[in-house]
Amino acid sequence: MFPAASLLTIILLALSIAASPFQIRDSPITLPIARRLNVSDGSINLLQYDKARVAALKAGYHLGSPPVTNVASYYIAKVGIGSPPTAYDLIVDTGSSNTWVGANTAYAVTSTSVNTGQPVDVGYGSGFFSGTEYTDTITLGSGLTITKQSIGVSSFAVGFSGVDGILGIGPVGLTEGTLTNSPALTIPTVTDNLHSQGTISQGVDTNGELTFGGPDVFKYTGDIAYTPITTTKPASAYWGINESITYGSTTILSSTAGIVDTGTTLLYVATDAYNKYKSETGATLDGATGLLLVSSTQYSALKNLNFNIGSNTFSLTPNAQIWPRSLNAPIGGSSKAIYLIVADIGTPSGSGFDFINGYTFLERFYSVYDTTNSRVGFAKTSYTDATTN
Ligand SMILES: *[C@@H]1O[C@H](CO)[C@@H](O)[C@H](O)[C@H]1NC(C)=O
Ligand SMILES: *[C@@H]1O[C@H](CO)[C@@H](O)[C@H](O)[C@H]1NC(C)=O
Repeated sequence: MFPAASLLTIILLALSIAASPFQIRDSPITLPIARRLNVSDGSINLLQYDKARVAALKAGYHLGSPPVTNVASYYIAKVGIGSPPTAYDLIVDTGSSNTWVGANTAYAVTSTSVNTGQPVDVGYGSGFFSGTEYTDTITLGSGLTITKQSIGVSSFAVGFSGVDGILGIGPVGLTEGTLTNSPALTIPTVTDNLHSQGTISQGVDTNGELTFGGPDVFKYTGDIAYTPITTTKPASAYWGINESITYGSTTILSSTAGIVDTGTTLLYVATDAYNKYKSETGATLDGATGLLLVSSTQYSALKNLNFNIGSNTFSLTPNAQIWPRSLNAPIGGSSKAIYLIVADIGTPSGSGFDFINGYTFLERFYSVYDTTNSRVGFAKTSYTDATTN
């Protein structure tokens, strides 16, 4: 069980998986997802969780697989597997690509379960799972089934208390090496299998949703601006893009590569960019939370933080640059303080991995992960300029 997890409905994350954006089906398939904050002992060290993931993501391209475990906050989807389906709570992860179950609820073998006998292993930096590959029917949301989807069934997992496993929606290349007897093989992901198997379902509106099949036009305003996956390593192994960042009109990070990641909570930038942001805002480092702290006067003077992606600019307003004040206490902060969500990635720019647009960025925009055309898209939503923090 998950002792002190809370379901948070602060803001909508419109996360869309566009398996085939030019082949729009009658209506997209949506899967409700819920945000969970992993508060096990009353307070969480947000930075410690995030930094373990950042370090492992940076190193992951050598190992074939990135981390997802011990994250401070993550998105959970209820996914049905088997026939009749058993419901599992899976972490929705754009930073890894294997789908697996069995960490908590035991995998229920049904008539659609086929044991391939292949050992499967994924190391996630601070945790891992090890088990056997099956193929089975997966049910997403209320209407979509995928048959013969490869899944891992865990016989041993570390670092996944309170969840059943992962729905991995990263690029397929991240599955390479995970079938240990055939390390050169990749495993078609859930997104890959949707190409030929998509069906129709009515939309479901909750605090977040994952849209399969094509962008959901009701969830964003204006156009979706697409940008190609970066060619710069190591960001290119993930949903990596090129962008530059300006604070007001001051450039804090020149055009460089980094990634978009649902499993990272904060917004990470290279050390030099972080230092510029810190001096521009006048923020100080808060010892208790490890986050940047501003006074209410400094908060009133904040300028937009602009992400220049291709020919488009996506701006985080001052309110979007602060940690939700209602969640100050769970991260060990003082309830009236104003903390910023910009954090130091720990290496100077030029590393090929100079930023992570984590969910504090993603919750303000609609994002599309287009496997077919190897590109990421962003659009504004009605939450982009919200003042909910
Ligand atoms: C939640 O936090 C606990 C305690 O730090 C950790 O053992 C567990 O693996 C975390 N759960 C997830 C899904 O990250
Ligand atoms: C991204 O930036 C790198 C380094 O400047 C450049 O070589 C590359 O062409 C850019 N675009 C893509 C899609 O990688």
